[in-house]
Amino acid sequence: MMNLDVLAATAREMVDNHRGLLAADESTGTIKKRFDSIGVESTETVRRDYRELLFRTKGIGKFISGAILYDETIRQKADDGTTLVQLLQAENVIPGIKVDGGAKTLPGSPNEKLTEGLDGLPERVAEYVTLGARFAKWRAVITIGDGMPSDYCIHTNAHALARYARICQEGGLVPIVEPEVLMDGKHTIDVCEAVTTRTLEAVYHELYLQGVQLEGTILKPNMIISASDCPSQASTDEIAARTVKVLKRCVPTAVPGIMFLSGGQSEEEATRNLNAMNANHGPLPWALSYSYGRALQQSALKAWKGEAGNVPAAQAALLKRAQLNSAACAGTYAGEAEKAA
Ligand code: 13P
Repeated sequence: MMNLDVLAATAREMVDNHRGLLAADESTGTIKKRFDSIGVESTETVRRDYRELLFRTKGIGKFISGAILYDETIRQKADDGTTLVQLLQAENVIPGIKVDGGAKTLPGSPNEKLTEGLDGLPERVAEYVTLGARFAKWRAVITIGDGMPSDYCIHTNAHALARYARICQEGGLVPIVEPEVLMDGKHTIDVCEAVTTRTLEAVYHELYLQGVQLEGTILKPNMIISASDCPSQASTDEIAARTVKVLKRCVPTAVPGIMFLSGGQSEEEATRNLNAMNANHGPLPWALSYSYGRALQQSALKAWKGEAGNVPAAQAALLKRAQLNSAACAGTYAGEAEKAA
């Protein structure tokens, strides 16, 4: 039976004190790509070493409320026998877990994706709770292109997100509901706005139909931005204004927190855009925060390069990004802090 008070308290804790999430839940395939970019081989031990360095960053809990882990990581131990989960808990960081099985080809629509992983999910949730997880993540992928997204793609993904969310709540995990409208392509910000609106409307409709209690959820959306190859790129102010407008139209005020993905934005863009929303559009009914993967880890990864001697530099890089994003949650990020920090 669901304990909504506990779920709601966890969801609020995830966004309290202007904190955000470290998305460190890259699948084995994705982390290999990240390691390839710095010329490091991806073995289980190296993946452990990298996540261990992130989680051992002193003071990270001031800016990060939680970290999203991958199945392999939530079971790993440091050489001294401490589990990676315990490292997070020692920094007052809540462990979370990616529970989706990845976005697979949508049957009958070969250029679209449907996220899998519902089979056996109640049992996996029960195990993750015993391993220390308090929240979960499921990412749905919506592609913009010729005739896309189809209503079929939006509907099936929204339905699966709601099924996942209900299963998590019944099992005691706060579900992060992540419908990501991809920024790949040439489409304008208008198209991103229209597609994101359609997507969020469908997602909240399904969450309602399936009895998901919104107080015990977190939304992880994309921002409303121009596609990466769109010739006309919207300004920070326009991104902030449009994103807040769409969220106000689509996301009920019972949701305690909205924690954006970075989705391919640079570290500085992701921080600047979040800051503009919090600095210029308040008061807002939900906390607007971050759940960044690439936009928190990019400079840390580059500083590390797979060498133990670079661990302090990598941790300093992560701490700096986390601190700046936390300032963006308060709307007090000053661009020049980039250079000064
Ligand atoms: P990015 O911030 O790199 O998009 O990753 C966030 C995430 O967890 C996507 O599912």
